[in-house]
Amino acid sequence: MRPTTPVTVRVPAKINLQLAVGPRRPDGYHDLVTVFHAVSLFDELVAVPARDGEGISLHLDGDSTGDVPLDDSNLAWAAAAAVAAHVGIDPDVRLILRKGIPVAGGMAGGSADAAAALVACDALWHLGLPRDTLEELGAALGSDVPFALHGGTAIGTGRGERLTPALARGEFHWVLALADGGLSTPAVYAECDRLREGHDAPEPQLHDGLMQALRAGDPVALGRSLRNDLQPAAVSLRPSLDLVLEVGEEYGALGGLVSGSGPTCAFVVRDDEHALDLAVALSASGVCRTVKRAVGPVHGARVVDGHLR
Ligand code: C5P
Repeated sequence: MRPTTPVTVRVPAKINLQLAVGPRRPDGYHDLVTVFHAVSLFDELVAVPARDGEGISLHLDGDSTGDVPLDDSNLAWAAAAAVAAHVGIDPDVRLILRKGIPVAGGMAGGSADAAAALVACDALWHLGLPRDTLEELGAALGSDVPFALHGGTAIGTGRGERLTPALARGEFHWVLALADGGLSTPAVYAECDRLREGHDAPEPQLHDGLMQALRAGDPVALGRSLRNDLQPAAVSLRPSLDLVLEVGEEYGALGGLVSGSGPTCAFVVRDDEHALDLAVALSASGVCRTVKRAVGPVHGARVVDGHLR
């Protein structure tokens, strides 16, 4: 069926509540045990029908900022191409991206856009591909793409692409300290390897205390259980992150950590009011570029009504 109306997909950012990094594998990746948690910071992607033979194009919505490539090196473009190749059709689509997730911030913004493009093209081209197929196509594009499709709270193994839903009760409140400029994920993993030189990397293990905190919906226990093996590497490349984490702790966060490969720092707080207090304190301290509040878990990539405002 010929596409006629644009499709808008909203996709969340993620925090890794635990990121246990094993030794470097022969393929250059690291085996992980991670606990992904989708939070209410969103990108929106609109897939607009294009003329036959027009191919793929990618545009940034007016308000979006950041250093986002607008060619086939962007994962959203690659995702649209992958869907079309999978079903053997020409990839004619205009993709319009509105960034709410920090670029190169350790919150899987690029993977989120890939997930959004998979869902948007599937809907635009009336394909009805099974969820498993979208997840397989996503895993080939990036380790975090299956989770961006899935959302919620989930345990990731392998490179992070194999998912098991995690039992979590209620809603958690987060304050996110966004930094100026990004950190390259491969550079942070390489720094992690460098810092571990001469030591055997431990086999990654799921943290039981964290799983209990999630099941109980207990933000205090969650705050004590946050762990990220990439944090020393991110801080080594960006020493100012230590100060951000210190300020968060000083102003009453229940716990905090560098999100993924950084440089965004995530702090868990008791409730909305506590989030506002910490956000004000972090903003006033001048240790980060901007501060956002969010809740989690939230849904993965899904079609929403309406278009970009
Ligand atoms: O899979 P993705 O493209 O998101 O990974 C980006 C980079 O992060 C990889 O090229 C690799 O350097 C590093 N990485 C890793 N181990 C993982 C996931 C990512 O070393 N499990």
